[in-house]
Amino acid sequence: MATDTDSLFQPKEAFRRTAHVKSLEEYQRLYRQSLEAPDAFWGEQARQLTWFHPPESIREVNEQAADFAWFVGGKLNVTVNCVDRHAKARPDKAAILWAKNTPGEYETITFRDLAHHVNRLANVLKAHGVRKGDRVIVYLPMIPELVYSLLACARIGAVHSVVFAGFSADSLRERVLDSGAKVVITANEGPRGPKSVATKAITDEALDGLAQVTSVLVARRTPKEVPMREGRDHWLDVEAQKHRGVCPAEWMDAEDPLFILYTSGSTGKPKGVLHTTGGYLVYANTTFRYIFDTQPDDVHFCTADVGWVTGHSYLVYGPLSTGTTTVLFESTPTWPDASRLWQVVDDLKATTLYTAPTALRSLIKEGDSFVTKSSRKSLRLLGSVGEPINPEVWRWFHDVVGEGRCPVVDTWWQTETGGILIAPLPGATPAKPGSATLPFFGVEPVLVDEEGRKLEGNGVSGNLCLARSWPGQARTLYGHHSRFVETYYARFLPLYFTGDGCRRDEDGYYWITGRVDDVLNVSGHRLGTAEVESALVAHEAVAEAAVVGFPHDLKGTGVCAFVTVKPDFLRTPDEKMVGSLREQVRHVIGPIATPDRVVLVSGLPKTRSGKILRRMLRKIAGGETENLGDASTLADPAVLDELLTKGLPPT
Ligand code: WT7
Repeated sequence: MATDTDSLFQPKEAFRRTAHVKSLEEYQRLYRQSLEAPDAFWGEQARQLTWFHPPESIREVNEQAADFAWFVGGKLNVTVNCVDRHAKARPDKAAILWAKNTPGEYETITFRDLAHHVNRLANVLKAHGVRKGDRVIVYLPMIPELVYSLLACARIGAVHSVVFAGFSADSLRERVLDSGAKVVITANEGPRGPKSVATKAITDEALDGLAQVTSVLVARRTPKEVPMREGRDHWLDVEAQKHRGVCPAEWMDAEDPLFILYTSGSTGKPKGVLHTTGGYLVYANTTFRYIFDTQPDDVHFCTADVGWVTGHSYLVYGPLSTGTTTVLFESTPTWPDASRLWQVVDDLKATTLYTAPTALRSLIKEGDSFVTKSSRKSLRLLGSVGEPINPEVWRWFHDVVGEGRCPVVDTWWQTETGGILIAPLPGATPAKPGSATLPFFGVEPVLVDEEGRKLEGNGVSGNLCLARSWPGQARTLYGHHSRFVETYYARFLPLYFTGDGCRRDEDGYYWITGRVDDVLNVSGHRLGTAEVESALVAHEAVAEAAVVGFPHDLKGTGVCAFVTVKPDFLRTPDEKMVGSLREQVRHVIGPIATPDRVVLVSGLPKTRSGKILRRMLRKIAGGETENLGDASTLADPAVLDELLTKGLPPT
């Protein structure tokens, strides 16, 4: 494919002048160096952090055993880097700008305030028996206590595991059990848009009968009273009053765990992705500096929830480790209307905005006037993450939001990668709408075919793998190292397999084409089809379920469930059954997993050996009526007629 020069967006001259990397040639030179002499490159990046004791060696890598260690022998504490050194240098600088749910309500937390809150909460955790290495579950809405909790854990060497406050009680319980946490931090409730999430009530349901959890610390977000269980539940503000705002920072080994974050895989059970201290922080810090091209007085606005990895790396750790002011947004982009993000940008003078294609699509739908009535003059860079950005959405972001003035960085990465792996450098890389462009320093993408043969040169498509370790990569799946090996290394050893399909065009630019496994990307969030299927099968009426994705205007991928109902339930009206099944998934996993369509059928398409033909279902759910595969392989060819009658998308 020839280069479509019309769609090449050169870095802006005004931006380039102050950029960390100022030309494509400079990027290419640094990139080559980072691959030829990785120890020198990463050693230099590590020196951007404050260490109690510097690393003795840069990396020890063993792909065969999936064993990775970075900055070996180094001792550090994440909070010294994210809090103390800035509280000392610029105590009055805003660390967090909290944009509350109610429009126009803001609170500033300076680095001095942050130090105080983090230390006090660290002391509270200690008083509740939390020691180095213990896991703490954080189930909080987007309130300052969420950031304090992460950092308080890091202060004392505890391992945080944030569970997104949109997840159900069942999901929360599963994560509490898998992590073995004794302490859960939550809030009485979490206002979000016109609604409120009953985080405490959900926590109570999740912990019902679980003796494992001995303390529940409850942040008081609103005056709402909630039932408190004697001996187990404590108001966080009351506990904090009992402690000093000074707590020594634990000396952590570079390879000590920092956090676990659960994400969906291709089986029914979520995976506890584990990140460690030194490598993760160096990687979040380095990528944040280069890709967001940080400047001393930046105000960084990441719209992602801290419950996802984007919030971990680019709302908390990347910005705070560089001393950058970070915005914590409690509400949603469309509440009370589609001007909300731009209002926050103007009120807080945000300079860099990092958001997701799904959010942009929901705003585009409302019309440009919501954007154009705001100023947005403070913005100098725009970023996208979570799924491939449609070229027309990229252009709208660039032309309408950024008025053609701001570079757009489309950043590809995963929960497991800890930070961004493929993205433009805004002052150097010419952008192509829809492409995440070129690899970051030290990252070597490789495309392979189904047999694992390396696809050389440009103009090729295949499975996206990574040829060498990078500091931010996950070290294991908590308690399940064999699953880690199996999922990421077994298939294309010694390569790390991402699960994504990808094209490398004639210019060497990377275009992510989407997941090649049984994982759906719904509104930028990962969802395993197997998870949704298990939730459905747990419903008393369901005999069998097969879940597939289909193209969805707003979500990117929508969820479609094909379900067969047990004979006893066949008299239930379809509409009622469909409603009950959607509610089932919402209750078991959370609202994000609710199927967009539930198709009740009398049989699923299976081969004679009993394997469900998902490809066929995927095509039908996507509106295809041709090339459905060989119907003669079906055990019962008659099911195809019914699928074509009921399964095609409504027009
Ligand atoms: C999957 C990872 C990493 C933060 C958010 C999601 C898809 C992510 C992009 C992008 C195309 C993207 C991939 C990836 N993805 N960013 N810029 N272009 N696809 O994290 O939940 O771990 O999901 O999201 O399919 O594998 P996650």
